[in-house]
Amino acid sequence: MHPLLPSVNFCWTLIFCFLKISASTDTLSSNQSMSGLQTLVSSGKVFELGFFSPSDSSKQYLGIWYKNILPQTVVWVANRENPITDSSGTLSLTKDGNLELVNSSGNLLWSSNSPSSAKNPIAQILDSGNLVLRDQDIYLWQSFDYPTDTLLPGMKQGWDLKRNLSRNLTCWKSSYDPSAGNYSYSVDLLGLPQVVLRMGSKKLYRSGLWYDNRFTGSPVLVANSVFIPKFVSTSEEVYYTFEAGGPHILSRLLIGPTGLVQHYMWVAIQSQWVVLFTIQEDHCDTYNICGPFGTCDITDSPNCKCMKGFSPKSAQDWEVYITFGGCVRNSPLDCGKREDFVKYVGMKLPETSNIWFNTTMGTQDCREQCLKNCSCTGYSELDNGGNGKGCVMWLGDLVDTRVATGYGHDLYERLSASELGMSPVFCFKAS
Ligand SMILES: *[C@@H]1O[C@H](CO)[C@@H](O)[C@H](O)[C@H]1NC(C)=O
Ligand SMILES: *[C@@H]1O[C@H](CO)[C@@H](O)[C@H](O)[C@H]1NC(C)=O
Repeated sequence: MHPLLPSVNFCWTLIFCFLKISASTDTLSSNQSMSGLQTLVSSGKVFELGFFSPSDSSKQYLGIWYKNILPQTVVWVANRENPITDSSGTLSLTKDGNLELVNSSGNLLWSSNSPSSAKNPIAQILDSGNLVLRDQDIYLWQSFDYPTDTLLPGMKQGWDLKRNLSRNLTCWKSSYDPSAGNYSYSVDLLGLPQVVLRMGSKKLYRSGLWYDNRFTGSPVLVANSVFIPKFVSTSEEVYYTFEAGGPHILSRLLIGPTGLVQHYMWVAIQSQWVVLFTIQEDHCDTYNICGPFGTCDITDSPNCKCMKGFSPKSAQDWEVYITFGGCVRNSPLDCGKREDFVKYVGMKLPETSNIWFNTTMGTQDCREQCLKNCSCTGYSELDNGGNGKGCVMWLGDLVDTRVATGYGHDLYERLSASELGMSPVFCFKAS
């Protein structure tokens, strides 16, 4: 008997009998499978999908990496929580349109869980790094909807509100373990949307709101020759994305195992990834470092100060630079009687989760609206498009405010007249 015969027979007895892919291709058709060293390569040879083992690991994963970059740079992992621990895995596309990864004993390790009613599905790796599953013109599933730790040009980090899908970046546990670590980078919708870095549920950094083509809290994240950042906020989608600055420029945003969020670019002549910027620039970027009603100024020593009319909640703590407790009001607000505002020029505006805003309200109305509401602690003009309109009002503690000279915004802090009479600390009375 021919040695192949038993396995052929065995194959015919199964309902799904997968044919192995052959030469280099970007597509897996239904009833095809791949395993071992077989890969799919995007048509322009930019990205490759296949099996890999991180260095120092014997486990195997299905992932996507740059075809022509060494050392291997993985940008997506399918089975990050379910590695292949035996000899090999097999990826196949079922007839009804599901990608399935099984180990050598046939146990399911990962599936695309796509709606499976396709007639003629294919899986294709694109030059963007996106693995798409489609049935003719209908897209069933894409890897870009399920990011690992990397944002590539064109990927959306944030919300598809219609599908209630949040696309977050989550770090690898370590350089040799792609399973989800503690740090995540996602878009928060509360109040005005912003990008937030967390360790577990604890906020470590926030971008501030998107305004005038940049995040109000980030001097570095602006359009440049390598990439163009964008933030889109509509009733259907809220996401951060970026475009490549040119056709041959490779760059990516990565959240590393220690929680650093960095944008890298590939420098071909040096064969290395170079860090363009790190979102956590300095001490003052640590979320709420100076506590409620404190402000952080990286050029001043100490960095933390209380806002005008406030004093450290614990003077002893502040003396030893434990400032998270923040500041308390010296005397209560009069609530609409004898009050005015102190203007802070060029600030990263406070946490926007507890705000009220109106994009068409004039600034004078904004001020009056704030004075009318006892919970209002401050306001800022959200002058979208320079038409002198727009209002953000804070309805509680002013949290995570920092001096952002040159890229920040003006913040008006509400104060009772008696406090305003005292000499200013490092700010100016509104004219
Ligand atoms: C926003 O402000 C405008 C102008 O003051 C006002 O007509 C409108 O009712 C406000 N919208 C809300 C939701 O308060
Ligand atoms: C202050 O304004 C907010 C938002 O409009 C509102 O929910 C709240 O009830 C107001 N509080 C008072 C005391 O008017």
